[in-house]
Formats: sequence, structure tokens, C-alpha cells
Amino acid sequence: MPKTDSQHPLRYLISDRDAVNELAQQYGTPLYVYDGDRLISNLQHLDAALASAFSDYQICFALKANTNPHLLSIMKESLPSLGADCSSPGELYIAEQVGIDNKRRLYTGNYETTEELNLALASAGHLNLDDITSFDRLMKIRIPDEISFRLNPGFGSGSFPEVVTSGKEAKFGIQEVKIAEIYRRAKESGVKRFGIQCMSGSGNLDGDYFVRLLTAILTCARKLESELGFTFSFISLGGGYGVPYRNDEKPLDVNEMFGKLGATFRSFYDPSNGASPRFVIEPGKIVIADSAFLLARVSGIKESYKTFVGLDAGMNTFLRPALYKTYHKIFKVGDPKAPHEIVADFTGGICENTDRLATDRSFPNVKEGDLVAIMDVGAYGFSMASQYNTRPRPAEVLLLNGESRLIRQREKIQDLFSHTEWNAS
Ligand SMILES: Cc1ncc(COP(=O)(O)O)c(C=O)c1O
Repeated sequence: MPKTDSQHPLRYLISDRDAVNELAQQYGTPLYVYDGDRLISNLQHLDAALASAFSDYQICFALKANTNPHLLSIMKESLPSLGADCSSPGELYIAEQVGIDNKRRLYTGNYETTEELNLALASAGHLNLDDITSFDRLMKIRIPDEISFRLNPGFGSGSFPEVVTSGKEAKFGIQEVKIAEIYRRAKESGVKRFGIQCMSGSGNLDGDYFVRLLTAILTCARKLESELGFTFSFISLGGGYGVPYRNDEKPLDVNEMFGKLGATFRSFYDPSNGASPRFVIEPGKIVIADSAFLLARVSGIKESYKTFVGLDAGMNTFLRPALYKTYHKIFKVGDPKAPHEIVADFTGGICENTDRLATDRSFPNVKEGDLVAIMDVGAYGFSMASQYNTRPRPAEVLLLNGESRLIRQREKIQDLFSHTEWNAS
């Protein structure tokens, strides 16, 4: 049997059977539970690493990872300079609602409609376009003072192929051979300031990869500057900084990584030698993934060709394992160190055979009614939850300063039909 999954920053919470039982009693299950202290310390740790390596930088939290307004507000409170990476009108809306300054909002869309571009022009301080056709649509609205384009440097990296977002198979970004022409057109159209951005994949745990990526971006940026006669206002390295979902994965050493990235940046832009672009990052996972767990109750155990542990949470509640076959630690609440005695698939009540939260997982013995915690669900957890099978989405709770607080109500079945009309007979 493999060793127990005993390591996690939130293990102390899961070990407290009475406290977790109380959360389940008070708020019901399935339930997203966030540890506010962990979230704040992740963000501050990241900011401190950047502050010691860069004189001018901006953290734009990738809102696609999590848009709970309460969480965004406490993040903003603990880091007033917080910016937002937005990729939809909804994300722009919530960035504005929680008070993230327009100048700190970066909009990176793709295949945007004219309506979307209009909205982005009005409410994002910085626009980052994925293609020249987006720029053509934008020009029909108005020429902005500043524009950024997303570079596809011809390579990318992610924890698995589905989350690699640059390179030959990626739908994102502009090939290096085409990008100079695009900036030239933008300059000739009247754009005055420029940015450049690259998001090459998610879940990277090798700090040196980001040094390689930044070197490629900066080489391209410097070439563009000398060809076209401008200096970039900002350079965004995107997101993609991974977290250890498994015991055998090592967390990124952000101090070491940003130290190296800062040195790389200075080797291209010497601060004592004139203006240097602002360094931007768009982190999602590294800020919030490990600050939440999904609390679920065992609803049934079935012995078939395999053993199935059925939960009241499924792919509708938390999609990543079904979508990408990702691994998430699961703990038995109150006893995270219990020896593993079964091997089972963890599933929900959705009518899809891909409805899995874990496959062939060794686990302690469990019975109906037991509580389990699925870990590292803070990023792309609730934000990817759906109402499939006409099941309401779960509630979210925040633990902070020794108190629990409901930060999103559980949906009711009626809510799912609140925008429909029909003739009841
Ligand atoms: C443009 C952009 N920026 C940032 C991110 C955040 O990535 P991560 O959560 O891996 O840091 C993403 C994620 O897909 C993205 O598409």
C-alpha cells in the first residue's frame, strides 16, 4: 500500500473532527472551506519575494481561478496594490465591484466579440490581445493609447498537455515571426504605449523554466523595441506558478525564483540606464489553490468490479479530476493519518462515467455518513463548478480569525430556474 497522504498546510484543520463536523452541521455539504490566513500568507509571501527582486512590479491575480467577492476583498485588504487579470466581462465586473483599481486591471481575452472589446476598453486599464483580428475589431471602436499583445514563443510548459497554453498546439498567442508586423500596425494606427505578455502554461514547479521563458520574452521585446523605436511600458510573464498537489512534488521556492527572474530582467533592462518596463505577473494557483478544501459526505459505498466511494460532491462540484485527471489529496476528516485499507474510486451522483474525484486511490476504511476533505480546491474549484444534472452549486465558507463565515449561499433548485419562463399547466 502507498504511504498515507499526510502532508498538507491545512492538515491541522482536517484533523479537528469536531470543528469540521460543526461546519458540516452548520452549512451542509458539499462545502468549499477557505482558510483566510493561508490565503493572506500566500499572497504576502509572493509579494515579498517580488518586492525584493523588482523595483517596479504588479501582481494581477488571475480571477479565473476564483472570483468570490469576499475572498477578493480580503486579498485586496491585505495587499492594497493587488491587480486583476481578467478574461471575461464577468471578471471585469467583479474586479470593479471589489475596488481593484482600473489601472491595475489587465484584460486578456481571446476571440473577443466587439461588445466584449467595448467593455474591456471601458473598464480595463490594460488590454492584451491574442490576435491581429482582435486589434482590427478594436480599431472599429477606437484606438486606445496603449495596447499589449500575447506572445506565443513557440514553446510552453504545464503540468499536463491540456494546460500548456503556448507552443505549436496552443490556440493562444501570436507567433514571434508575425508579432513585429502587428506592433508596427498598432504604432502606425496611433497607439502610443505598448505592453507584451505571455502565458505559457499552468502548474509549473521548475523555477528555472520561468527564467527560460522570461529570457525568450525579453529577447523578443528588446528586438521589437529596437526595430520599432519604443520602450515597453510593461512586460507580463503571465501565471502558471504551480503548487504541489502530490506529496512527491516540491513547492516552488518563490524567493529564489523571483531573485533569478529579477537578475534576468536587469540583464535586459539596466535600471540605471533609463526607463525600464513594469514587471507583471498573473498568478492564480500559487495564491489560492492550497487555501481551500472541499468538504463532502460519503453517501454510499458500492462493491463492483472496483470499489466506489460515493460522495455528495461530484464533477459538478469540482471538475478538475474529471476534466484533466488531476490528482487531489483526499483526507478522512478527523483522521488524516489513518492507515490505508481500501483502494477505491471516489465519485459523485452525476450520470457520467467520468464523474470521478479520484481513481484507484488507497484510503482508510470509510462508511456512509463519514466526512472527507478533497484538498487544494481553492483555484479552479468553485469557479469551474456547474449545475449539470440540474444540481445546485455548493456553498462557500471562510475561516478567519477563529470564526467561520458563509461567503456564498448554497444554491437552491428554484434558483436554477429563476431566469426561465414557461406555462405551467
Ligand atoms: C492569461 C492567464 N493568466 C494567468 C493565468 C493563471 O494561471 P495559474 O493559475 O496557473 O497561475 C491563466 C490561467 O489559465 C491565464 O490564462
